[in-house]
Amino acid sequence: MTAFEKGKTPIHRMAVVAQELLAERISKGDQVMDGTMGNGYDTLFLWQQVQPDGCVTAFDLQAEALESTRARLSTAGWSGDQHTLRLIQDNHSRLAEYVKKPLKAAMFNLGYLPGSDKAMVTRWNDLQQSLDALRNDYLLPGGIISVISYSGHSGGQEEQQQLLSYAGSLPSEKWSAMVMRRINASLSAPVLVLIQKKPDE
Ligand SMILES: C[S@@+](CC[C@H](N)C(=O)[O-])C[C@H]1O[C@@H](n2cnc3c(N)ncnc32)[C@H](O)[C@@H]1O
Repeated sequence: MTAFEKGKTPIHRMAVVAQELLAERISKGDQVMDGTMGNGYDTLFLWQQVQPDGCVTAFDLQAEALESTRARLSTAGWSGDQHTLRLIQDNHSRLAEYVKKPLKAAMFNLGYLPGSDKAMVTRWNDLQQSLDALRNDYLLPGGIISVISYSGHSGGQEEQQQLLSYAGSLPSEKWSAMVMRRINASLSAPVLVLIQKKPDE
């Protein structure tokens, strides 16, 4: 899966739908974050949107995710310049250690990396910490968080319920929270949650 091709994306490909929605709201020069880089598809997408002056800060716990993402971005033309992309092997919940500028967007793709250690699955406590930090300290007005959540693996259903409950209880004066899900598929189909800090009027 790569960044979207206009007119060719099935509407249930949540990872691509998330990218399409964010592409409308991210500009060259923006600071953005990928909380779960995995194989780097979202990192690549974000990097392409914010070039040449913006910066992506991307996190993953696993060294192999950084290797895979580094290779993908190098193939796409990244020179290794840390001013435009930082690949960080750490928990995204420690973002305050690394992110020093306000963010326009943050992406999360939950679950585990296909084919890798299933013990490295995302956990709600980490996500909650990051969402709180992003909301309280980092997200610009109009800034947006996307989270793709899966319920089919062990712990996934609980994580998804907690995410939906968190997003659903955000005060509507300041936050827009949305959910997209494919309704003519199994209940374990992925869910896309979007949280936007309302733009200043
Ligand atoms: C579904 S994959 C992400 C896929 C990725 N967005 C892509 O485009 O390929 C989830 C990733 O999150 C990572 N992960 C899990 N918990 C994490 C955490 N607390 N902080 C950073 N990365 C985490 C896993 O190691 C895994 O690589």
